[in-house]
Amino acid sequence: MFISECLNVNSENHLTIGGVDTVSIAKQYGTPLYVMDEGEIRKNCRTYKNAIDAYYGGKGLILYASKAFSCKEIYRIAAEEGLGVDVVSGGEMYTAYKAGFPMDKVYFHGNNKTEAELRMALEYGVGCIVADNLDEIETLDALCAQMGKTVSVIVRIKPGIDAHTHDFIRTGQIDSKFGVALENGEAMDFFEKALLKKNIKMVGIHCHIGSQIFDLAPFEEAGSVMLNFMADVRDRFGLEMTKLNLGGGFGIKYVEGDTPIAYDAYICAVSEVIKKTAAERNMPMPEILMEPGRSIVAPAGITLYTVGNVKEIKDVRTYVSIDGGMGDNPRYILYNADYTALVASKAGDKPSMKITLAGKCCESGDLIGEGMDIQPVEKGDIVAVLATGAYNYSMASNYNRIPRPAVVMVRDGETRVVVKAETYDDILKNDM
Ligand code: LLP
Repeated sequence: MFISECLNVNSENHLTIGGVDTVSIAKQYGTPLYVMDEGEIRKNCRTYKNAIDAYYGGKGLILYASKAFSCKEIYRIAAEEGLGVDVVSGGEMYTAYKAGFPMDKVYFHGNNKTEAELRMALEYGVGCIVADNLDEIETLDALCAQMGKTVSVIVRIKPGIDAHTHDFIRTGQIDSKFGVALENGEAMDFFEKALLKKNIKMVGIHCHIGSQIFDLAPFEEAGSVMLNFMADVRDRFGLEMTKLNLGGGFGIKYVEGDTPIAYDAYICAVSEVIKKTAAERNMPMPEILMEPGRSIVAPAGITLYTVGNVKEIKDVRTYVSIDGGMGDNPRYILYNADYTALVASKAGDKPSMKITLAGKCCESGDLIGEGMDIQPVEKGDIVAVLATGAYNYSMASNYNRIPRPAVVMVRDGETRVVVKAETYDDILKNDM
């Protein structure tokens, strides 16, 4: 009945997540609070994994893009589900390592990895580095030489595909800080130089065209452009690469009007294109990698807040102020992102108010949404904001010295804390 399958309403008209009453969760743990349903996360992992089996003969690996939500528990879940992970910083890599994640299934991304991060990746035995540019190759090759190692590398390509999404999360076009471009020969030049490096093993190519995309076409186009480029590299240098990584970016439902495509349809469509292109170019089928982040965790998460006041400004708007805001969810202020909100204790009722959901930061732009439809809401109510499982906790800040909320995971009707709430002393811990 709500935008995510893990959400429902119980006999008391309360919102439930994974079958557990959100009003009771708020009472038990306090607010603001991130709540995630483990069943939904695992179901999404399986949908992707099963699709690789069904449509691509299992010759592939789903990498969970952990920037969407990174903490030790999510790496444990990804490992149990047989996924690899994409990490983009020393911090994510360290979290995966400390969670006991199999490091050979880690792909390390980033447009400006530091030497320290690359060294760490080599020490931890990260499976594959996703190189961004030739400067990185120089550093990596020198480090490998020092450490007596060789490393598998795939390179990030800008395939020249323009996905229709917010400008800040669009990355496939030539004007992007990520990767090397196809259309101006930069990508071919990369191979010419990288292939001279003794400690680097070029094993594939990568692209990521953007995020929150609702079309199949850009992924099909990327599959074809990328595989054709692999064939061009083979023809020019005689190099047979095995890995084709097409990134993430699959859209999800934040509000009723959003029309996501079934996750397995992406894998199905891409598999078809790859089979066709491989036959045309007389190539073996590459191992296919996809990197969904948002679509695995966003629908599994909600944020619970307590309403502190309702301010009706006649003929202007009604502000509903909550005990969180841009510190725990900066996506409205950054991207004008749309969210669905509801009053947790009246979840089954029809929305009858239009509100602006405002945070508690000292900043007028600190909003979670404007023009949001919601049930009649008053001071003391618990408001749930839906589909906050991705890029909320992971992008949270301590602006105004507000501690980050805890993350509670729901599983089989039980709840447990997977990330503790920060305290004021946590905020002070680095102050001298
Ligand atoms: N792979 C690469 C190389 C990426 O850069 C990203 C996301 C993903 C995979 C995962 O994309 P997803 O499946 O989650 O869409 N903070 C923004 C999203 C930034 C995405 C950055 N890269 C937001 O809150 O919408």
